Amino acid sequence: MNENNTEIINWFRASTSYINAHRNKTFVVLLAGEALADNNLPNVVSDLTLLHSLGVKLVLVHGARPQISAALEKNGRKSKYHKNLRITEAECMDTVMGAVGAESSKLEALLSMGASNSSSHGIQPGLCRGNFVTAKPVGVHDGIDYQYTGNVRKIRVDAIEQQLDQNNIVLLSNLAFSLTGEVFNLTAEEIATEAAIALNAEKFILLVPEPGVIDDNGELVLSLSESDAASYAKKLSKLDEDAVCISHALEACIRAYNNGVHRSHLVSFKENGALIRELFTREGNGSLISSDNFDNLRGANIEDVSGILNLIKPLEENGTLVERSRELLETEIENFKIVELEESIIACAALYDHGDGFGEVACIAIDSQFQKNGYGDRLLASLETEAKNNGIDKLFVLTTVTAHWFLEKGFVESKISELPQQRQQLYNFQRKSKVLTKTI
Ligand SMILES: CC(C)(COP(=O)(O)OP(=O)(O)OC[C@H]1O[C@@H](n2cnc3c(N)ncnc32)[C@H](O)[C@@H]1OP(=O)(O)O)[C@@H](O)C(=O)NCCC(=O)NCCS
Repeated sequence: MNENNTEIINWFRASTSYINAHRNKTFVVLLAGEALADNNLPNVVSDLTLLHSLGVKLVLVHGARPQISAALEKNGRKSKYHKNLRITEAECMDTVMGAVGAESSKLEALLSMGASNSSSHGIQPGLCRGNFVTAKPVGVHDGIDYQYTGNVRKIRVDAIEQQLDQNNIVLLSNLAFSLTGEVFNLTAEEIATEAAIALNAEKFILLVPEPGVIDDNGELVLSLSESDAASYAKKLSKLDEDAVCISHALEACIRAYNNGVHRSHLVSFKENGALIRELFTREGNGSLISSDNFDNLRGANIEDVSGILNLIKPLEENGTLVERSRELLETEIENFKIVELEESIIACAALYDHGDGFGEVACIAIDSQFQKNGYGDRLLASLETEAKNNGIDKLFVLTTVTAHWFLEKGFVESKISELPQQRQQLYNFQRKSKVLTKTI
């Protein structure tokens, strides 16, 4: 047996736990129009068919944005947008329906393909399309009538689940119908997100043009908390077209997350096998937005001030932390992140932007009952992500008793003179805090 075979056997054995974990779970998968136009689509569909054959309950949602734009242009019409949302004029509806219908048929055909050169050879899943999404008009905003552009009014959960229970894949497009019998053009992102929420999906998978979220060093971010996702979404929304697409995908994940769908994956639609590697290997091959028991890590708001004060008071009293008044905390609350458990704040940390690429980590505190559970580590990682996204490249911390903990996190002992000028002036020589810095 050659080395390659051993590798395959090991991988196949290791995949068993994933196969068992995914069986009978509902996955909602978003295939934007761009994914349908990509050369890799047959491989993606083949992998989706494989998932279905392994017992995953699949709801596929496809869009057709570039296809609609192209069809309108061909008919001599310009795509009209207001605030990034298409205005679907009555006279364009035939074209829109034609373009979307063509994409639905293309997907149906691929899903039905049993060609001998496809890995889904012999597997022909049952497929179901129908009036599973009820729409309502977006209406008039800023004096602009969106006409036949719609929003989701209701996802018919029972009807979809009935089909899934009968082992059918449910295929939804970006068209939906109103109770008055009209067809509306929606965004596939909205339908997919609302479907994932309504079905309480185990996973929400968004196929995107990049391998996932890419950090400043060009590395794929394999795992993000919800607050990291929010921070990246904000940053990427200001970059190029693909980055904006990832930003929108992250926003959809955050909405799903806040409504109970705690595992979303961004996976490339361009890379052959990316979906299989993401779902069946430990390393993964995309970006997972999940709770990992830290689902309650978030930015603090004014209502959290009392909870933070209760948490840090004993540490201020024993001199571990510098005292902060309620007034100061109220003005600086936006710098804080907290972890909340059962309605109480069990951990906090703050990041101060000092300009010139300098950021200060401060007031990191974990309730003594919850220490050594990784909360400190996770909070620090989250501050680092935020710092990077805000153009900070050097973190520093002043500490009297926790130097070793920071050293283990990659900080190094530094001199007071390495601090930003105004922070040097505020340095308390009586406290004799150690100065630690980390280039991020
Ligand atoms: C330091 C602190 C933030 C770490 O948070 P945490 O959630 O317990 O940390 P993690 O779970 O990520 O890491 C735990 C590890 O750090 C170690 N650790 C905790 N405090 C340490 C310290 N002062 N020096 C060295 N290691 C320390 C623990 O022993 C544990 O290591 P182990 O698992 O090998 O035994 C937390 O202990 C704390 O709130 N301390 C009091 C407040 C404080 O000192 N804040 C810093 C002000 S600058």
